Amino acid sequence: MRHLMNPLDFTVEELDSLFDLANDIEHNMPKYAHTCAGKKLATCFYEPSTRTRLSFEAAMLNLGGSVLGFSDANSSSASKGESVADTIRIISCYADICAIRHPKEGAPLVAAEHSGIPVINAGDGGHQHPTQTLTDLLTIRSLRGHLDHLTIGLCGDLKFGRTVHSLINALSRYEGMRFIFISPDELRIPDYITEMLRDKNIPYEEVIRLEDTLPRLDILYMTRVQRERFFNEEDYIRLKDFYILNKKKLRHAPADMLVLHPLPRVNEISVDVDDDPRAVYFKQAQYGVYVRMALILTLLGLAGKEETKC
Ligand code: NCD
Repeated sequence: MRHLMNPLDFTVEELDSLFDLANDIEHNMPKYAHTCAGKKLATCFYEPSTRTRLSFEAAMLNLGGSVLGFSDANSSSASKGESVADTIRIISCYADICAIRHPKEGAPLVAAEHSGIPVINAGDGGHQHPTQTLTDLLTIRSLRGHLDHLTIGLCGDLKFGRTVHSLINALSRYEGMRFIFISPDELRIPDYITEMLRDKNIPYEEVIRLEDTLPRLDILYMTRVQRERFFNEEDYIRLKDFYILNKKKLRHAPADMLVLHPLPRVNEISVDVDDDPRAVYFKQAQYGVYVRMALILTLLGLAGKEETKC
């Protein structure tokens, strides 16, 4: 049985097949409408979510399956002290596959170790968010045509942003990547990530100013300052509006640069950017449904079986 804890759990070749499947789903949705008939997805969210949970649910419904779950730890037995290990043993009796989000790093891994069904990490603390990474990679691959030889600027909260940590992990396996980390000093990328890049001889820079960096980028990945992971509110207030991308600043960027954001945004991208053709964050959220459909099919061993079930 296979789980997804980290984007590196799939080889680059496996990811390619997954993205091919996601693109086929995008263009031939009706073909997949019954592939998961009779199957159930459990969404166990111990932390808030809009996109991740609802895109998982939409993905399973698009495949003809059903969904059950909770979106608030207080409405589950976690509030009575039940462990993640016990909860997943129970969920394994009710569902065929489970997506779990938890504020504690490593909680989905504990779940996977005690589970009778495939478990998907839907975000664990400041650690990893592999399905957002699959979404990001599919977006870049679909709109740029390739995932190698790119200069990517990651901007904002690089310290606590799990989507950033997952994405760098995944992109570090492609040829010719160059990373530019754009953050205030307090929100710098963790050392374990820069060490990994140095070990692999992957070029990276750390800078503070966004405007000066824009002309060199193929991809700009904006992120929100992660208020819930700060120890005190004053630090958050001081840093929250450090970067605000607006139409005027975007004039410095190449005409074919893509602006991605895992969302939700707070102030870091002004709404006047939304109608710029380079702003693809809402499209990115749509790719999140296709890639989660492909992932569910793959983990349930149903990829390539769509016709037989119809
Ligand atoms: C991200 C997350 O939860 O880490 N959101 C998402 O899943 N798309 C990003 C964020 O909350 O800032």
